[in-house]
Amino acid sequence: MSDQSFDVLVIGSGPAGYICAIRAAQLGMRTACVEKWKNADGKYVLGGTCLNVGCIPSKALLQSSEEYEHLVRHLDGHGIKVNGATVDVPKMIARKDAIVAKMTDGIAYLFRKNKVSWLKGHARLVGRGDQGWLVDVDGQTVTSKYVVVATGSKPRSLPGVEIDNERICDNVGALNFKEVPKRLGVIGAGVIGLELGSVWRRLGATVTVLEALPTFLAAADEAVSREAWKIFTQEQGLDIRLGVKLGEVKQDARGVTVHYELEGKAQKLECDKLIVAIGRVPNTDGLGAEAVGLKLDERGFIEVDDHCRTSLPNLFAIGDVVRGPMLAHKGEEEGVMVAELIAGQKAHVNLDTIPWVIYTTPEIAWVGRTEKQLKEEGIPYRMGQFPFSVNGRALCAGDARGFVKMLAHARTDEILGVHIINTHASELITEAVVAMEFRACAEDIARIVHAHPSLTEAMREAALAVDKRALNI
Ligand code: FAD
Ligand code: NAI
Repeated sequence: MSDQSFDVLVIGSGPAGYICAIRAAQLGMRTACVEKWKNADGKYVLGGTCLNVGCIPSKALLQSSEEYEHLVRHLDGHGIKVNGATVDVPKMIARKDAIVAKMTDGIAYLFRKNKVSWLKGHARLVGRGDQGWLVDVDGQTVTSKYVVVATGSKPRSLPGVEIDNERICDNVGALNFKEVPKRLGVIGAGVIGLELGSVWRRLGATVTVLEALPTFLAAADEAVSREAWKIFTQEQGLDIRLGVKLGEVKQDARGVTVHYELEGKAQKLECDKLIVAIGRVPNTDGLGAEAVGLKLDERGFIEVDDHCRTSLPNLFAIGDVVRGPMLAHKGEEEGVMVAELIAGQKAHVNLDTIPWVIYTTPEIAWVGRTEKQLKEEGIPYRMGQFPFSVNGRALCAGDARGFVKMLAHARTDEILGVHIINTHASELITEAVVAMEFRACAEDIARIVHAHPSLTEAMREAALAVDKRALNI
């Protein structure tokens, strides 16, 4: 470390931290980013959870497994016969690792390009001196006028269950299996459970998912959850058991046994591998929060206001370590906002228009409120829904499952929520996000020309359906 004094020091290089550091440097501030993550070879790497063991590797494996399933199950419908397709898991994992390496190296390149100093090691807040914050990085003291904490999150642990990432895995181990397990158990039917459960099911595993809640995908709109449940369980054969009460989890040379209770009856699940994905918790390990008096809430998140300001001067916190959805793009936006605020600009993040995507097949995506939330909040609304089963492009593609559902205010017609279940929902949702950011009405979408044939026509038809004038159904 040649220069120990900065305008902005960002702790953590996940999507929240690295984007914040780049934006701060773009705005002319002397910026450093501290990162402690080492890869399997013991080399320091940037990118945090998202790039190393989250968004990117999971999407790489979802794509590979999707290609396989398409080949063996769906091409026949197009009149294409394929015999003898096999899966080479180590090659699939190596492809995933190469993508991760390309992306993490990409951040190192962006840091060089923008003159962001990359400090390798663990950062700990020490206190404040004349020059600003004092931060210990592996025994060296660094000074910075502003500090932005972007230390992310870690898997929530299950009491009494030890993750060895061999037989009992969190997301790290589940992205690195050496072969397809015959019987895979998953605890938690949330986003990770469904995405990673799908990967290994498509490749041939029998997958059983144990979920504590009695409802499936409680955060999504009920119509979408119902449709997804039907597709995942009946069509794809995911065995999802809702309302379970977990008991002991044991492992021996033959595998893992999970004892649980369902409808008052004792049951057990025997599997070769078990993925535990029961949520994530904020990570402030070894940050020195207590020593400097940084306030955490009762769930361990760093307390911040709408502008990500903490309880202490010139100290901000962003990303998974603060309230709001634990999503990469939410953290990125907070990173940009904080860098711009530090530079004296006006900036904000609208948490009401953060899109959610679950990368199953079909994908599930939404933005804004669900119908249940509107009812609970007493907001009058109109609903329009349009199925892909009558969308020409979807039929040609061979996947016409799902629908677009739009919710608009009953009086003003402003769009309040859009919910999609479709193979390309992750791409389609952006139209809804743009519309909601501009506070568009359903009528606006209904009057915009959408290319034909395209999946986006379903968005327009759902908007028309809000006013009961869909044209193609
Ligand atoms: P992180 O990415 O967790 O990064 C925090 C960084 O801080 C880490 O690199 C850590 O080493 C470093 N750090 C922590 N403490 C210190 C310290 N004291 N000193 C130095 N460095 C420190 N989100 C999506 O939007 N889309 C997806 O498709 C998606 N898929 C996911 C799939 C999986 C399997 C998982 C686990 C998560 C997924 N997420 C996804 C969530 C996404 O990964 C997180 O929301 C995102 O990574 C949060 O970014 P962050 O910058 O806040 O924290
Ligand atoms: P999650 O919150 O999505 O799901 C966890 C599930 O586990 C919930 O349904 C919960 O009811 C259940 N659960 C909790 N305790 C349990 C218990 N004792 N027994 C059985 N079930 C139990 O959390 P997940 O899947 O771990 O993912 C963490 C976060 O990572 C997500 O909330 C999301 O923010 C992020 N993520 C985002 C992705 C995306 O954007 N596509 C993909 C993967 C993760």
